Amino acid sequence: MQLFIDSADVAELRAAAASGLIDGVTTNPSLIAKSGRKMKEAIAEICAIIPGPVSAEAVATDVEGMLAEGRYLARIAPNVVVKLPLTENGLRACRTLSDEGIRVNVTLCFSAVQALLAAKAGAYFISPFIGRLDDKGVDGMELIREIRCIYDNYEYQTNILSASIRSVDHVRLAALAGSDCATLPPKIFAALYKHELTDSGVEAFLKDWASTGQSIL
Ligand code: G3P
Repeated sequence: MQLFIDSADVAELRAAAASGLIDGVTTNPSLIAKSGRKMKEAIAEICAIIPGPVSAEAVATDVEGMLAEGRYLARIAPNVVVKLPLTENGLRACRTLSDEGIRVNVTLCFSAVQALLAAKAGAYFISPFIGRLDDKGVDGMELIREIRCIYDNYEYQTNILSASIRSVDHVRLAALAGSDCATLPPKIFAALYKHELTDSGVEAFLKDWASTGQSIL
């Protein structure tokens, strides 16, 4: 499963990219606002740090506006993926941009039939929001399983990008459900390494090693 970082903070992204484990980045208008940066500059800098797909979201709500913003964003760097909301206009714009060779990440997906429509509109990524469904008392992970099944039934090539990830367990379950990618807040990515038995195991090995008085080099 590909791992993306959900952030527009360049320092956070540099730190995560140093792991060598990061395949891409997702941003949204809230994350750009939080970064305090000008969008074009921030996206250009992020695209230079991470060579994989970098999602940059349009904010227009009409088709023509989405197309204009999408084409503008796609010109920032070759690895920009234009993010559009799962609305009727968003899917119309998705069809046009996809036909032009611009990759589109259809975001704010909350149902399997929405994901079906996004695939039919040529989306490169579909972003189901797991955490926000969980917030409503609905099992967000069931949506990932349903989309996987539908896409496999009809051999849609749209990549499932599990989003609104709130825990390490969300990452585990998304991987088990066959999600193609998951986008994580930096703190969840950092937490993936952690297991108390790893920490105590390292500690015990080092203690025993010290008792030998040896050095490897
Ligand atoms: O990738 C989507 C993500 O930014 C939304 O996450 O935690 O605001 O639901 P959250």
